[in-house]
Amino acid sequence: MPFITIGAERIYYSQHGTRGVPVVFVHGSGGSHLVWGAQVRAVGEIARAFAVDLPGHGKSEGAGCNSVAAYRDVAVGFLDALGLERAVIVGHSLGGAIAQTLALSHPARVAGLALVGTGARLRVLPKILEGVLSDFASTAHFVAQAMFARQDDPQIAKTEEQLRACPAQVVRGDFSACNAFDVIARLGEIRAPTLVLCGRADVMTPVKYGEFLAANIAGAQLVVVEDAGHALMLEQAEAVNRALVEFIRKL
Ligand code: COA
Repeated sequence: MPFITIGAERIYYSQHGTRGVPVVFVHGSGGSHLVWGAQVRAVGEIARAFAVDLPGHGKSEGAGCNSVAAYRDVAVGFLDALGLERAVIVGHSLGGAIAQTLALSHPARVAGLALVGTGARLRVLPKILEGVLSDFASTAHFVAQAMFARQDDPQIAKTEEQLRACPAQVVRGDFSACNAFDVIARLGEIRAPTLVLCGRADVMTPVKYGEFLAANIAGAQLVVVEDAGHALMLEQAEAVNRALVEFIRKL
């Protein structure tokens, strides 16, 4: 199983596919490469797909970061360590913030952007931001439920379990990073071909956020996925895979 070293930390990633454009998947707050299982396999059929565990998440070492810029530096370190000059960056939620920041600071490294369940600003409910440290268990329960459109989705329990496997301090750093993130005034500078994906019933990053991204990033394409919330890549994996594969094929 692949690890690379970035700075002093061993960073884990999964990989599918050995030819074609590199595609790097970046998870959201408290997540790991596991949220992208279906997408990495599907995209791996036509490209070299990598899904990273950010520091402090999944199988990676480290204490996590408190800002999107610091995570962006990790993403650049990941591209460097794997010798990837340019890659398509697919980011979910916090991962989408990292992807936008990377496209703004290192445009030559970004062959395309897929922004999944995210926005140009990601204010976090105080109940979540404060609850992560004061009552991690019930906050993880609340967040996992809020991520899914159908409250009887069997994947909610697993999502909650995976969130609770991430140290509370790391999740707090992730949400603090989201809360301070705002590139609303800079979206017009993004030149990368962009696909925006959002779940019709997303209450964490509503469709309005996706529409705003698509309206303000030149040439961006918007796909609203029906019967899905914030965890659209888990809830409607087939629809998300189709949109990603079609987008990457056309690059
Ligand atoms: N794209 C487009 N519009 C956005 C935006 C984005 N990324 N982020 C905020 N806005 C809009 C808001 O809808 C609001 O518009 P309005 O005045 O027409 O209602 C305006 O910009 C001001 O928004 P902001 O100051 O960022 O937040 P808020 O005061 O409206 O609400 C929260 C703050 C936390 C209640 C809200 O962001 C929320 O409900 N968030 C979702 C839950 C959450 O915690 N998500 C976690 C994301 S990781």
